[in-house]
Amino acid sequence: MSVPPSTPEQRRSFIQSQTALASPPLTPEIKLNLATEITPIWEATEATLEANNLPPPYWAFAWPGGQAVTRFLLDHPQWVRGKRVLDFAAGSGLSAIGARMAGAERVQANEIDDFAIEAILLNAASNNIAVDVLRHDLIGRNEGWDVVIAGDVCYEKPMSDRVIPWLRGLAGSGVTVLMGDPGRAYLPAQGLVEVASYDVPTSKELEDRELRVTRVLRLMP
Ligand SMILES: C[S@@+](CC[C@H](N)C(=O)[O-])C[C@H]1O[C@@H](n2cnc3c(N)ncnc32)[C@H](O)[C@@H]1O
Repeated sequence: MSVPPSTPEQRRSFIQSQTALASPPLTPEIKLNLATEITPIWEATEATLEANNLPPPYWAFAWPGGQAVTRFLLDHPQWVRGKRVLDFAAGSGLSAIGARMAGAERVQANEIDDFAIEAILLNAASNNIAVDVLRHDLIGRNEGWDVVIAGDVCYEKPMSDRVIPWLRGLAGSGVTVLMGDPGRAYLPAQGLVEVASYDVPTSKELEDRELRVTRVLRLMP
């Protein structure tokens, strides 16, 4: 593609041309537009987006952290049933979709990547689920959520340094903060209570191994 996708419609066609509907291994009940192989989408994204300094296609993968926390909510819906939920850094929107399926009253999926926003809307529609999308940086805000989900957000230090104090502050004001993490480098060492653990099948190309033990953790104030 010579012209970078710059409208929501163009972003949607880019996503649909680069992905196929498939279910992440841990959540067979949810279909997402996912990259079937890593290299082609990375190359296509670099070719079309790099000039614009846009991020890699995180939205085209269901990360182990998101899969684990989504599996947990589908199996333990009492954590979100009837609640106002934020899926922070939603990527594909997997956890937002799962929270809604588990009976959340209102789910907001938050991203700063325009492609992720379109991927979330496409993915929600593919599952006949309604989620609201918020496309701005929410870090530092408290907008009355009962539960905040953060799947796989501790993979870079600058992000983790901003996100964790904010999430801890929310936990201190009574918000339930659930993280999904497969052992990323910048997960805090303390103030986390494990509520579940899953073996998530992954690909060697993406994660350098075929299985990642991934924990669902409640972040404490
Ligand atoms: C590894 S992906 C995880 C996606 C999803 N939660 C999952 O587990 O599949 C991390 C995501 O964080 C998003 N992100 C990074 N900084 C953010 C911020 N300040 N606010 C919202 N999303 C952010 C990126 O765009 C990316 O989609």
